[in-house]
Amino acid sequence: YLPAPSAADADGFLRCLLATMPSSLVFPRGSPSFAATLASSIRNPKFLPGPGTVRPVCVATPTAASHVQAAVRCGRRNGVRLRVRSGGHDLEGLSYRSERPDSGEAFAVLDLAGLRTVRVDVDPSGGAAATAWVESGATVGELYYAVARATGGRLAFPAGLCPTIGVGGHLSGGGFGMLLRKYGVAADHVLDAVLVDAAGSLLDRDAMGSDVFWAIRGGGGGGSFGVVLSWQVRLVPVPPTVAAFKLPVSVAEGAVDAVTRWQTVAPALPDDLFIRVLVQGAVAEFQSLYLGTCDALLPLMRRRFPGLGVNRTHCQEMTWLDSVPYIYLGAGATAEDILNRTTSMDAASKATSDYVREPISRAVWAEIFAAWLARPGGAGLMILDPYGGEIGRVPEDATPFPHRAGVLYNIQYMNFWAASGGDAAAAAAAGTKWIRDLHAFMEPHVSKEPREAYFNYRDLGLGENVVVGNVTSYEAGKAWGEKYFKGNFRRLARAKAQIDPDDYFRNEQSIPPLPDAQ
Ligand code: FDA
Repeated sequence: YLPAPSAADADGFLRCLLATMPSSLVFPRGSPSFAATLASSIRNPKFLPGPGTVRPVCVATPTAASHVQAAVRCGRRNGVRLRVRSGGHDLEGLSYRSERPDSGEAFAVLDLAGLRTVRVDVDPSGGAAATAWVESGATVGELYYAVARATGGRLAFPAGLCPTIGVGGHLSGGGFGMLLRKYGVAADHVLDAVLVDAAGSLLDRDAMGSDVFWAIRGGGGGGSFGVVLSWQVRLVPVPPTVAAFKLPVSVAEGAVDAVTRWQTVAPALPDDLFIRVLVQGAVAEFQSLYLGTCDALLPLMRRRFPGLGVNRTHCQEMTWLDSVPYIYLGAGATAEDILNRTTSMDAASKATSDYVREPISRAVWAEIFAAWLARPGGAGLMILDPYGGEIGRVPEDATPFPHRAGVLYNIQYMNFWAASGGDAAAAAAAGTKWIRDLHAFMEPHVSKEPREAYFNYRDLGLGENVVVGNVTSYEAGKAWGEKYFKGNFRRLARAKAQIDPDDYFRNEQSIPPLPDAQ
């Protein structure tokens, strides 16, 4: 067992770590580069350490599997827990900070940015089948780029839109983007993985066993089951030319009707067509990716969604790789821009999510625009991602990600405010309150029993773990766990009991262990 928190030996941990890892890769608290290394992939400036923040014992930046194994063994021996960071995009910052300054738990940050090789294994016969091994510290942008370049643009990988998301956290929580209707979530395409468990052993798919392999593909591998070093993924075919459009529609131009109609049209379109909506202020921007040409897309839009008025001037043709910067970074961004790992630190943010299974009425959408999005000061953004297609054909228990058949769309609520300046604290309070209040307002209109939420859009407001007798409580964890994982939460807790019964890998929303006897 891990010693009680008061027995944590930070010096002993560092001595142990430095026996295996070069000192140039270990940044103890107080050393000159500690603060910069800790901040290197913090995405949300509200989580930059400030007065009163509990600092990690050190940030370690492994470049070999043996370093990760040593960190786990040294951590257990010395009562120091690990926060594992790949891309640092966790929406609650749990990969590098602890929410519990009073618990006395010492922790170190294991930053995997130095483990980011992508190896694409192309079918030598030139066929469509290919796989890639990608290390967790790679960003999805690096993965997309490597895959497109190695396959002459024939293949892609279905995952999130933001190119700086880390593969490690993203695949651990599901992972979806513009290809979700055609190919489902990223975790659906994981064929093998290498995991360092709580004993510091290296395990592949066979060695970790089917329950744990099931669990890490979307079940909050994030700090629950061990450190995933690398993933073998199946790549998917894309045509040489895709078509994309971005079409803003204001309330004055009929945004309320367009969004109301979109709710039932978008999830029922052919799988090749994905249209999401960003709703902000008095505008709904429709963003689309079609796996085909404008010549094929335009008649389809006229037939299935004539009210949107998409025409030739809106439609842009490009390669799938170029569609990634086009959609996320804007016109003028190039494919090389998705290799830039630097994250913007301008705005602090707060997010949460919902799933919609019954269309929301026009009257409620009119109220959302008028009373919520138009509210001066503190008003944020809603991102609506349509489901249907392949994501809904996969059975709910095939992977831990359960939001499948019957889901019309996912909502991500997001709010931003200036992280610095005299009124930053007031802006943070107003921005966070807007999210909470809108989330409360939406309750009658979204999924129920449970009210589903997406794990990768982590929100500690949905519930936090309670530790009883040095082990995370399963009963208490159900409050947030069943929202993210529905009936799969129990199986996740069983898998956790198999691989980490002592609950070494834990955080405020890690999977609690549920031994078979219970
Ligand atoms: P980070 O490194 O912060 O890790 C997240 C969690 O996983 C932490 O609990 C961490 O400990 C754990 N973890 C990380 N690496 C691990 C490893 N190797 N082994 C075990 N545990 C590990 N999602 C989506 O589906 N589609 C999208 O389009 C987007 N877009 C998006 C944009 C922006 C700006 C943000 C901030 C976030 C998103 N997301 C998203 C959400 C994103 O998928 C989610 O935050 C991922 O967990 C991020 O993975 P990182 O590796 O970057 O996070």
